[in-house]
Amino acid sequence: MNYPDQSSNPLKGLDATYFTDTGIYDRVKKEVYFKTWQLACHRSQVANVGDYFSFSIFDQDIFIVRGQDQTLKAMYNVCQHRGHRLVSGCGNKKTIVCPYHAWSYTLDGHLNRAPNSDKVEGFNASSIRIPQIRLEEFVGFIFVNLDSECLDMETSYPGVKEAIFALCPDVETRLFAHEHTAEEGCNWLIAVENYNECYHCRLAHPQFAKGVIDPKSYAVKPFGTGKVLRHTSRATQSDKAWYDVSGADYGSFFLWPSTALQFYPGGLVNTYHWRPLAVDDTRVHRGWYSQDGKVNDTLQKVIDLDRDTTFAEDLKLVQNVQRGLRSRGYTPGPLIIDPEGGIDNELSVAALHQWLREAVDS
Ligand code: FES
Ligand SMILES: [Fe+2]
Repeated sequence: MNYPDQSSNPLKGLDATYFTDTGIYDRVKKEVYFKTWQLACHRSQVANVGDYFSFSIFDQDIFIVRGQDQTLKAMYNVCQHRGHRLVSGCGNKKTIVCPYHAWSYTLDGHLNRAPNSDKVEGFNASSIRIPQIRLEEFVGFIFVNLDSECLDMETSYPGVKEAIFALCPDVETRLFAHEHTAEEGCNWLIAVENYNECYHCRLAHPQFAKGVIDPKSYAVKPFGTGKVLRHTSRATQSDKAWYDVSGADYGSFFLWPSTALQFYPGGLVNTYHWRPLAVDDTRVHRGWYSQDGKVNDTLQKVIDLDRDTTFAEDLKLVQNVQRGLRSRGYTPGPLIIDPEGGIDNELSVAALHQWLREAVDS
């Protein structure tokens, strides 16, 4: 079921243990993050043969590399000798050489050379390969899934590609331009809930609510038959617009559990994705993409305004809620579910709670 079950009325928020308990956090790791599609990077960040990009999903280090045949591979970032990490950060390599004892691997993960291994009876280099991970490109973004049995992205998030192309026809030709990150000091789901409702926008984000969107037209709803939330809004009608917002409307697609592909009015492509660091800490990544990979004056202005207002305002909100959820005086209150939709609505929060409980409740 992808729509919130509203059989109990009024629907309440999740018990605080879902945001504070390390046992549930461990189940989130195994049952949510290790079984769903995670945004790694943009394909323009690994455009050339030998380009690699490394990152982590919980305690699993992963890297993506473009091979000699131009195809992208995702692999666990661990040497098959004695377990050292193979690559750090991002860059370009002709071969992958482990920094510990110099075992070297081809770009598709086969062991090429291990010093002095010819002296070892029965050593079979051709049997050694770095374990591979599922990888897909989706409207120009690279996603991985640690579950080799997982459904592909089109099946997991049906209709999203088509809806994105309708909103931003040239999305696939964008190039990575800028990213900034922050440690949020809260559970990942507090950050994801906060992103996916705009009930707080008029009070907490007065500049966003005038500079980018039109609050009167904003809505967030489950989309299609997948675990997707679609945000829609007209462009701001205010004279406080941050930039020329003519052209396409605002839209965002949140792909459970951790990625938002977002389109500011006029086709400014940007992303959020969230990587948990601890039960009460999460790193948020804020990405921006342009036609030429450069940050022009308009984009720089939007990035700065967004970081200094909406992004900074949300950081304070989610940190504050994390503390509140540990309070002995807190029990979850009713969610505001408005059947008519609209901005003052937490239907999306109820959907997130349902998807989480389907995954972690046993
Ligand atoms: S751990 Fe990588 S070469 Fe030894
Ligand atoms: Fe917000």
